[in-house]
Amino acid sequence: MNQTKHFLRIRDLGGREQAMNLLRRAKEMKENNTRSDLLAGKTLVMLFEKASTRTRLSFEVAVRHLGGSVIFMTPAESQLGRSEPLPDTARVISRYNDGIIVRTFGQEKLEELVRYGSVPVINALTDQGHPCQVMADVLTMYERTPDLAALRVAWIGDGNNMANSWIEAAMLFPFELTLAVPQGYDPDLNLFIEARDAGAKIRLTRNPAEAVAGANYINTDVWASMGQEAEQKKREQAFQGYIVDASTMCLAAPNAKFMHCLPVHRGEEVSAEVFESEASIVFDQAENRLHMQKAILEWAFSR
Ligand code: CP
Ligand code: NVA
Repeated sequence: MNQTKHFLRIRDLGGREQAMNLLRRAKEMKENNTRSDLLAGKTLVMLFEKASTRTRLSFEVAVRHLGGSVIFMTPAESQLGRSEPLPDTARVISRYNDGIIVRTFGQEKLEELVRYGSVPVINALTDQGHPCQVMADVLTMYERTPDLAALRVAWIGDGNNMANSWIEAAMLFPFELTLAVPQGYDPDLNLFIEARDAGAKIRLTRNPAEAVAGANYINTDVWASMGQEAEQKKREQAFQGYIVDASTMCLAAPNAKFMHCLPVHRGEEVSAEVFESEASIVFDQAENRLHMQKAILEWAFSR
C-alpha cells in the first residue's frame, strides 16, 4: 500500500539525498518550464487562515501546470468560521478532494488535518515554519552557487517561522548558517539544539555584524509576523540595530546577495537602498516559489 506523503516541515523530505533530489528536480522543472498531467482530474483545497499573495498565486499556478485544479477556502467563508471543528472539516475535505494546502497559525492544526484527513497535507506557512518558502530560497542559492557546502548564510532579525525552517534546511543541506537574533526572539531552541547535534553547521548570536561577516547570502524578514501586529511597536524597539542596510552589506563576502521572503517593510528590517540594489534577489526567490512547489507537488503525488 502507498503511504500518503505530507510536507509539514522540511525534514519530511527524508534525508540529505532526497532533499538534493528535490532541489535538482525543481531546477530542471524551471529550466524546462514543465507541464504535466500528474494532477489531471485531481482537486486540491487551499485552506488559508492568513493573507497571502505569493504562496496562493504560486500554488494555484503550480497545480494548474500539473493539470489539476484548486479550491480556495477561508474560515470566513466556510463553517470553520462558525466553529465547525477542524477534524470534521478534514474528513469532509478528504471525501471530495485529493490534497490540502494549508496556511494557518499553530503547527498542531496541520497535524490534526493529517490525523483526521486521508489526503496529502502541505504546509503553506504556520507560526512554526515556512518550508515551501525556504526550499525555494535554497533553490535560489543553488542556481547561483551549486556547491552549497561553500556557502555562508546569515539570518538577521526575528527567530520566526522562516528562521526555524532555515535551521531545518541546514540539517539537510551543507551550508553554514548563522542567526543573529535579539534576546527574547530566539528561534525554536529545541530545534536548534537538535539540528546542531545532528551535525548542522549553525550558530546563534546577538550580534548582526558577527553573522554577516563573510556571509554570501544575507536573509531577513519582517519583525512582526502575521498574527503579531499588536506587538509591532514593542518589536521595533527590540530589533533596533538589526536593520540590513548598506553598512551591513559591506561586512558580507564580496558579491553577497540580499534575500527576503516578502512582503517587506522598507526602512525597518532592510533599507530601501539594499532592497532595491543589484545585490537583492528577492524577486528570484518569489519566482522560485512556483518551481519549487511544482517539485513538492510531484514529490507528494507521484506513485
Ligand atoms: N513569502 C510569502 O509566503 O508570501 P505571501 O504571504 O504573499 O504568500
Ligand atoms: N514571517 C512572516 C512570513 C510571511 C511570508 C509571517 O509569518 O508573517
